Amino acid sequence: MKFFVDTADTDAIAELNDLGMIDGVTTNPSLILKSGRDILEVTKEICDMVSGPVSAEVIALKADDMIAEGRKLAEIADNIAVKVPLTWDGLKACKVLTDEGKMVNVTLCFSANQALLAAKAGATFISPFIGRLDDLNLDGLDLISDIREIYDNYGYETNILAASIRSANHMSECAKIGADVATAPPNVIKAMANHLLTDKGLDQFVKDAKEAGIKIV
Ligand code: E4P
Repeated sequence: MKFFVDTADTDAIAELNDLGMIDGVTTNPSLILKSGRDILEVTKEICDMVSGPVSAEVIALKADDMIAEGRKLAEIADNIAVKVPLTWDGLKACKVLTDEGKMVNVTLCFSANQALLAAKAGATFISPFIGRLDDLNLDGLDLISDIREIYDNYGYETNILAASIRSANHMSECAKIGADVATAPPNVIKAMANHLLTDKGLDQFVKDAKEAGIKIV
């Protein structure tokens, strides 16, 4: 499973990218707001840093306007994936931009039917939002399983990009189900390294090393 980081914080992206932990980046208008930066400027900086797909989201609601915005965003760099919402207009924009050879990430997906439509429109990525479904007492991971099954049944090539990930557990569950990519905030990716027994074991080793007077360098 590929990892994308879900942020517009360039310091956090640089840290994970230098470690080889991420294969791409996703942003959205809320993350751009949080960064306090201009969308074109910060997206260019991210694209210069990361070689994999960098999702940048349109803000228009009508297909023609989304297409114009998508074309402008795609001019930033070759690795831009234009993010459009899963609305009828978004699907129209997806089809046009895909036919032009641009990567398209269809976002705000909450049902298997929506994912089917995105695949028919030629989306490069479909972004089902796990956490926001869980917030409503629904099971976001079930949606990932359903889409995996449907895409495999018919050989759709659209990549399942599990989004709205809130925990390290979501990451391993998505990998078990077979999501192609999972996008998570930096803190969730880092939390994947944590285990109470690792901390406990390390405490003991540090204590014992001190008592044994071990010195290596
Ligand atoms: C995906 O591309 C979105 O940017 C993101 O995963 C949304 O996550 P949230 O539900 O935590 O805002």
